[in-house]
Amino acid sequence: MIRMDSVTKRYPDGTVAVDRLTLEIPDRSITVLVGPSGCGKTTTLRMINRMVEPTEGTITLDGADLQRQPVTALRRSMGYVIQNAGLFQHRTILDNIATVPRMIGWGKQKSRERARELMERVGLDASLAKRYPYQLSGGQQQRVGVARALAADPPVLLMDEPFSAVDPVVRKGLQDELLRIQDELGKTIVFVTHDIDEAIKLGTMVAVMRTGGRLAQYAPPAELLSDPADDFVEDFLGADRGIRRLSFFASEGLQLTTAPVVRVDATAEQLAAPDAPYLLVTDVEGRPLGWSEPRDLTAGDIAAERLLPYGRPFVPGTDSLRAALDCAVLSPTGWAVAVDGDGRVTGVASQQTIGEAIRTAHGAADGRTAGPGTDGDRPAGAAGIAKAAP
Ligand SMILES: Nc1ncnc2c1ncn2[C@@H]1O[C@H](COP(=O)(O)OP(=O)(O)OP(=O)(O)O)[C@@H](O)[C@H]1O
Ligand SMILES: [Mg+2]
Repeated sequence: MIRMDSVTKRYPDGTVAVDRLTLEIPDRSITVLVGPSGCGKTTTLRMINRMVEPTEGTITLDGADLQRQPVTALRRSMGYVIQNAGLFQHRTILDNIATVPRMIGWGKQKSRERARELMERVGLDASLAKRYPYQLSGGQQQRVGVARALAADPPVLLMDEPFSAVDPVVRKGLQDELLRIQDELGKTIVFVTHDIDEAIKLGTMVAVMRTGGRLAQYAPPAELLSDPADDFVEDFLGADRGIRRLSFFASEGLQLTTAPVVRVDATAEQLAAPDAPYLLVTDVEGRPLGWSEPRDLTAGDIAAERLLPYGRPFVPGTDSLRAALDCAVLSPTGWAVAVDGDGRVTGVASQQTIGEAIRTAHGAADGRTAGPGTDGDRPAGAAGIAKAAP
C-alpha cells in the first residue's frame, strides 16, 4: 500500500503545489486524484515515483520509506502513462511497448513476444505492430502508452490525464478497457484527471483536491455524490448529483411484473385478461415490439409498426437503477422494459416501483430503512424522484 503522510511540496520559487496531503492508496484498486488545473495533481503523482521529491512529510510503499529506496528500482515497479502517450516517434509500436523489458535485460525475442501479448490485452490489432506512432489515431496511441507501462508487469500504474486528449467516444472505450485490465491484472492504479465524471466512473477511491494543493475530500464515488464535504466539492461535482448516484445502486432487486406482457400471437382472451392501461407486445420469442392500449389491439392482427416505441430496455442485475429510471422516463407509457442477456422480456416496472426501489436503496446506503417520514433528510434530487412518480 502507498501511504502519503502530511506531504508538502514547495517548489524553489515558493509555490506550494501540495499542502500537507495525507492519503492511503489501497492496493489493487484505482485511486483517482481529481481537481481544477494547478491544484497539485501531477506533483502528487510525481512524488510517488520520485520524479519530484517532497519538501516535507513521508511517502511509504508497503511500510517502507520511498526515500530509502533506489530510484531506478522504484520507477521500474511503477508504470507511467501520460497524456498523448509520450511515445518514441522513431520506434515501431512493438518496440515502443518492448522498451522497458529490453531495458531490464530481457532478450529481443522475449520482449517482443511480451509486447504482442500486451497489444492484444489493450485491444490493439496485431497488424499495427510494425507501424510508427504517427500512423496511429490518438486513441490507439493512448492504448500503446498503457501497454508500454504494463510491459514489465509493474504492480503500480501511475496515469496522468491519459485519456484527456481523445474524443468522448474513444475516451469511454479507453476507460472501459482500463476497468477490464484492472479487473484482470489487479494493479494498484493512481489516476489523475480533471474530469469528475471520469473520476466517478473509474475510482474505487476519489481524492478531490482544491487549489493550493489541499485535499478537499477523500471518499468512494458514491459517498462523494451523497455527502460532499463542502460547497467546493458540491460545486465541483456539478448538477444531477442525485441522479448520478443512482448508478451505484443495482437494479437487481427491482420488482418486475409480467402481467401487462402479451405475445404478438395472443388470443382475444389473452389480450383481454390483463387489467392494465398499456400492454407490452413481444414477438413469439419474447423480444419487445412495443406498447399499446388494450383497445387498440385485435387478436391475430397486431402490426408492430402501429405500436408505441418501448424505448431502451434495461438488464436487471447488469444495469443500475439509473438505467432503469432512464428507461421509464424515456418510455411513452412511463413503464420500463426489463430484458435478459438475450433481449427477451423478463418483465416491466412502473416509475412508481422504481421510485420505491430508489428509496429502499437510499435507506440501505444511509444505514436506515426506507419508509414514510424519512424523506426529509434524503438528498433532495432523489426524494424528488420518488415523489414525482405517478
Ligand atoms: N517546477 C515547478 N516550479 C514551480 N512551480 C511549479 C512547478 N511545477 C508545478 N508548479 C506549480 O505547482 C502547482 C501545481 O502544479 P501541478 O502541475 O501539480 O498541477 P495539476 O493539478 O497537475 O494541474 P493541471 O490540471 O493543469 O495539469 C501549480 O501552481 C504549478 O504552477
Ligand atoms: Mg497536471
